[in-house]
Parts: sequence; structure tokens; C-alpha cells
Amino acid sequence: MKNTITLNNISHHFDTTSERIELFKDLSIEVHSGETMAIVGPSGAGKSSLLSIAAGLEKPAAGKVHFVIEGERVDALDMRANSGFIFQQFHLMPELDAIGNLALPLRLKGNRAAFDIAAEWLENVGLKDRARHKPHQLSGGEQQRIAVARAFVTKPKFIFADEPTGNLDARTSDGVAALMFDCAKEVGSGLILVTHSNRLAVRTQKCLRLERGQLEIAA
Ligand SMILES: Nc1ncnc2c1ncn2[C@@H]1O[C@H](COP(=O)(O)OP(=O)(O)O)[C@@H](O)[C@H]1O
Ligand SMILES: [Mg+2]
Repeated sequence: MKNTITLNNISHHFDTTSERIELFKDLSIEVHSGETMAIVGPSGAGKSSLLSIAAGLEKPAAGKVHFVIEGERVDALDMRANSGFIFQQFHLMPELDAIGNLALPLRLKGNRAAFDIAAEWLENVGLKDRARHKPHQLSGGEQQRIAVARAFVTKPKFIFADEPTGNLDARTSDGVAALMFDCAKEVGSGLILVTHSNRLAVRTQKCLRLERGQLEIAA
């Protein structure tokens, strides 16, 4: 079934008390579930803002955003229910243990098998023996593996990842990246990621560079 995000002629800016920060003008992107895409570019270019708009978390100042899930047009709220998010700072719930963090998105959807499914995912990401450990008892790489599993546990149509390896050393980054791409393939999710890392960007099918308000296909 068709799952598509379409951005048509998107422009965005922020107004501060002293000035207007222009981020980009007239950007158009289409991405489908099953595809992988990277957005690269310098700090402050507007990558995170573009990702938020593509996820329906933010509205662009101008332009149109369309979400299609299983062939039907949906609004930003329904889009969110079909999305998973991965952040640079992991953003696990500090008071929940590893399995509790993994089960949370399923519990929020009323899934009675939440802990059983979470246990399977924990094993998938190689952290079965860490089920009862809280985030502060885990390394950065382990926390991000949990965060990746948490993003995929509801089998979302799209995953949005903002600098998912930005806080990890090179070797740990490669492991987390491999996990993320394996999960996306297995679940069939679209993967849209923002990254500074070339090693991560080259894994995607399509790499776009956002710079000075323009989006170009990166080599
Ligand atoms: N809510 C906001 N209000 C005002 N300015 C913002 C806001 N969010 C981001 N910005 C500014 O917009 C620019 C782009 O931010 P961002 O999308 O985070 O870029 P990137 O992720 O490429 O570093 C930056 O100059 C940032 O300071
Ligand atoms: Mg950013």
C-alpha cells in the first residue's frame, strides 16, 4: 500500500525581535515508505526544521505538505501515529528501564502484548541482558540501540532521525547505523535522516544537501 510524504514548494523562516531568519524557499521533496533519504548540510541550514515539517510536527510558512498512509490522505496527527523518531540525545525516559522504554509506545497504543514484543526487540538489538537497566546504566551506544528499537517497535511507515549518531564514536556509530538500516528494511519503513556523517549519508538511496536555502542532490 502506498505511503508517501509530499512537500510542495515549502518555504520557512523564523521571526526574532530583531530579524527574520530565512531558512529555505520553494523546496519540493517526495519520499515513500521503503526508501531511505539523507539530508546533509552545515549547522543552521534548517535541516532539523525541514525534518520537523516532513514529519508534520511543524507547519511551513508557505507551501503544501501531503501525507498518504495506506493510500489515504491523512492529517499531521495521523501521520504522527505512523511515525517513529530517533534523536541525537537518545531521549529515553530516565525513570523507565530498557524494556519499559521499549514497551512504552506499544502501551500507549493499548497493545496488551507490549512487554512480550518489547522483549523480542530487546533481543533483536542484542540487549536482552539489559532489560532491567535504566538509561543511566547504559552506554551511549546501548541507549541509542534502545532508542532505535523504540522508534521501530510499532512498525511505523516512516522514521525520522535527527543526527542519530551525532553523540557516538565512529565504531559505535557504524553499529547503530547498521541497526537502523536493517530495521527500516525489515519493517519496510521510510527512513529520513539528518546527519553530518558522510559514512551514514552514503548508506541512503538519496542524499540531499541543504545549503543557503537550496536543496540539491549531493554526490
Ligand atoms: N523556534 C525557533 N525560533 C527561532 N529561530 C529558530 C527556531 N528554530 C530554529 N531556529 C533557527 O533557524 C536556523 C535553522 O535551525 P535548524 O533547523 O535547527 O538548523 P540545522 O538543523 O540545519 O542546524 C538556525 O539559525 C536556528 O537558530
Ligand atoms: Mg539540527
